[in-house]
Amino acid sequence: MVNSEAIDSASSVSTARYLLACVLFVTYLVILGVAYNGVWQIMLNFRYSKGKKTRQEREIGMNESLEGVSIIRPLKGIDPEMSSCLESSFVQDYPSDRFEILFCVDDPNDTCIPIVESLLKKHSHISARILVSQNYNEVSRTSDEHFGPNPKVNNLAKGFLAAKYDIVWVMDSNVWASSRVLKRSVRCMQQNIDNGRPVHGKRSVKLVHHAPMAISVADTEYSLSPISSGSNFASSGSNGHHKRILKKFGAKLDEMFLLTSHAKFYTSFNNLSVAPCVNGKSNLYRRSDLDHAVSQIPKRGHSSAFFNSPEVLKDAFHFTSLGPGHAIKFFSRYIGEDNMIAICLWENVLGRTGMTGDVVVQPLSGEDNSVNDYFERRTRWLRVRKYMVLAATLLEPATESILSGIYGNFAITTLFGLGAKDNQYFYWPLFLIHMSIWITTDYIQYYVLIDSAVHSDKLELLPAWMDSKSLPPLKRSFFDWSLAWLGRELLALPIWVAAIVGHEIDWRGRPFRIKQDLTAEEL
Ligand SMILES: *[C@@H]1O[C@H](CO)[C@@H](O)[C@H](O)[C@H]1NC(C)=O
Ligand SMILES: *[C@@H]1O[C@H](CO)[C@@H](O)[C@H](O)[C@H]1NC(C)=O
Ligand SMILES: *[C@@H]1O[C@H](CO)[C@@H](O)[C@H](O)[C@H]1NC(C)=O
Repeated sequence: MVNSEAIDSASSVSTARYLLACVLFVTYLVILGVAYNGVWQIMLNFRYSKGKKTRQEREIGMNESLEGVSIIRPLKGIDPEMSSCLESSFVQDYPSDRFEILFCVDDPNDTCIPIVESLLKKHSHISARILVSQNYNEVSRTSDEHFGPNPKVNNLAKGFLAAKYDIVWVMDSNVWASSRVLKRSVRCMQQNIDNGRPVHGKRSVKLVHHAPMAISVADTEYSLSPISSGSNFASSGSNGHHKRILKKFGAKLDEMFLLTSHAKFYTSFNNLSVAPCVNGKSNLYRRSDLDHAVSQIPKRGHSSAFFNSPEVLKDAFHFTSLGPGHAIKFFSRYIGEDNMIAICLWENVLGRTGMTGDVVVQPLSGEDNSVNDYFERRTRWLRVRKYMVLAATLLEPATESILSGIYGNFAITTLFGLGAKDNQYFYWPLFLIHMSIWITTDYIQYYVLIDSAVHSDKLELLPAWMDSKSLPPLKRSFFDWSLAWLGRELLALPIWVAAIVGHEIDWRGRPFRIKQDLTAEEL
């Protein structure tokens, strides 16, 4: 009697273990599939080879059919290497009578204005101007251009109204793009192609985006300026309150995150096209598509998973009734406007995203950027995501190398009896193989992306901070690289826990709370 009970309970434990192992094994295979599809996409579309680039150039050689584009760049304060980042818009290889640049600022006395003015003077043959918000009040730091809590959208709105062309390219102030990006992106949208391949199926390319990457650079006069903390990415409102550890390590961690984990899942999701996943650093879409998509929100009523509360429907109706170009104001209620725009185009105009094999590069100060700063930036980013796509955010740790190595190991040892003894949960050699393959692909992928950026433009158009002499391949040892890699991997879980536990979002030094309908509220 006693014996058979003991056997029963032992076998039920092992059934539970067996079922768990099945679930984890499938998860492991799916995660590896998505991750390595991303690695494959990067190798296929981003790898630099001389022949490939010239072929692309020939294919897009004709200028006649290129549509006009309004480049809109929201500015606030001074970012690292700002002048070269902004200048990349002026030197686009695109017919100069078919694009314009609109620099949007709130404050007419913003510290970035002298930089923009000297660029306007230097490139006087390009149609470009500065747009300032109406009635800016320097004490309350508000203007008449206030539609919701998102300062970037409030600032952008006037650019959308002033835009001469239907295609808008919204690009953050702190990123640089090669001079070839615009032409390739317009082709991608006009001809409905993604990474050079025609898109089939019911969805067509309605938003073109570029893989964001960051490079840790030595400081210049601009990045040392205290105002640089006003930039949306490098900001950290509570620097003074923390003991800042490893002051120079933060930018290297950002660089590592964007070039390894982020890049592979970002390019993979773009390719698989099961849901939009968009970072707003550099996006092209049609203003008319956005107007139309937002005008559909009230008509669809409550059937949308994202746009369904009564106030959301009311605002969508209100802003689109104001006329063309006003729809962008609707997104000022969201803190993650980039992904919400992508979701809106996805739901209402049957759009999908397209990429061009191009990266946009953000120079980050490598001198005054601590591990705390990195931790805070990542936590904030994840918290914003948590409210938009909870399920994906909850699953995120499963995509990290160490954790997936552990649960994958448990699943394989259980299902296939690896390591011989029945009750073994963990087989070290398997874990080491998993980690070695992961770090090797990350290393290769990292330098494929660096190489792609360095060769993305003619030498004379590359900014000095991207000079190959100072970039990672020559400057950083493998040991240095691995240290940053390991730091990134080890911090992933603590960052995730902090993001899931907390509710507040520190945004340019102000606390926000995200409400149930994804809109933000200042505290
Ligand atoms: C297309 O326009 C660019 C930029 O204006 C110019 O450099 C190039 O020569 C033009 N190409 C053709 C084929 O007209
Ligand atoms: C801009 O600066 C000038 C001179 O300091 C000042 O008189 C003016 O009020 C400022 N304007 C705004 C909108 O801040
Ligand atoms: C993803 O990329 C592959 C090439 O690697 C391509 O054949 C496939 O059509 C792409 N999928 C979609 C949905 O675009």
